[in-house]
Amino acid sequence: MSNKSCSFRICPWWLGYFLVSPLRKLLDNPEKILSPHVRAGMTALDVGPGMGYFTLPLAKIVGPSGRVIAVDLQEKMLSGLQRRAKRAGLSERIECRLASEKSLNLADLAGRVNFALACYVVHEVPDPERLLSEIARALAPGGRLLIVEPPSHISRADFEKYLALAQKNGLSTVSSSPLGRKLSALLEKPTG
Ligand SMILES: C[S@@+](CC[C@H](N)C(=O)[O-])C[C@H]1O[C@@H](n2cnc3c(N)ncnc32)[C@H](O)[C@@H]1O
Repeated sequence: MSNKSCSFRICPWWLGYFLVSPLRKLLDNPEKILSPHVRAGMTALDVGPGMGYFTLPLAKIVGPSGRVIAVDLQEKMLSGLQRRAKRAGLSERIECRLASEKSLNLADLAGRVNFALACYVVHEVPDPERLLSEIARALAPGGRLLIVEPPSHISRADFEKYLALAQKNGLSTVSSSPLGRKLSALLEKPTG
């Protein structure tokens, strides 16, 4: 699979600070992006959350009866996320997990996640099928996955390959551009 500019290059931890800039709301408004898919009481998963640009809004939407699991490869991203969650009074709803190169460590969540987000992360992973299969396994029947990728980093054709891998792992496409952008898709684990 060809990557336009960063072949499986992991986002450096210090870029995490830029990704949580309030200015980003002009492009990616987290409440608008998440609220159609997330409800109070849900279990949500943020894959590759960085310092939690989407994790904190997810935690606000799921409320005190819900939970958010944030799983990242880099400890420094997770410690930044934890600091931000603490300041916002949301730590109790957010569980940070360290992924390894080989696993997201989600075995205990099999069939329990109502909503998963993978924003700007799949192109950083050498084995996208492994990542997508782990997410698919964690989803509950009827659970949904929102994938968003940066057009500056991957082509439409590569994005379609990710979607095909998700489908191969049992997810079906609900919407192919839910954000009105080229490289976004909403997928669902069938209930039957
Ligand atoms: C470009 S950042 C996106 C952060 C966040 N989703 C956002 O939109 O602000 C990509 C994140 O994915 C994480 N990541 C890369 N490979 C990963 C893997 N195999 N498992 C879990 N996280 C990974 C990186 O450490 C980084 O925090």
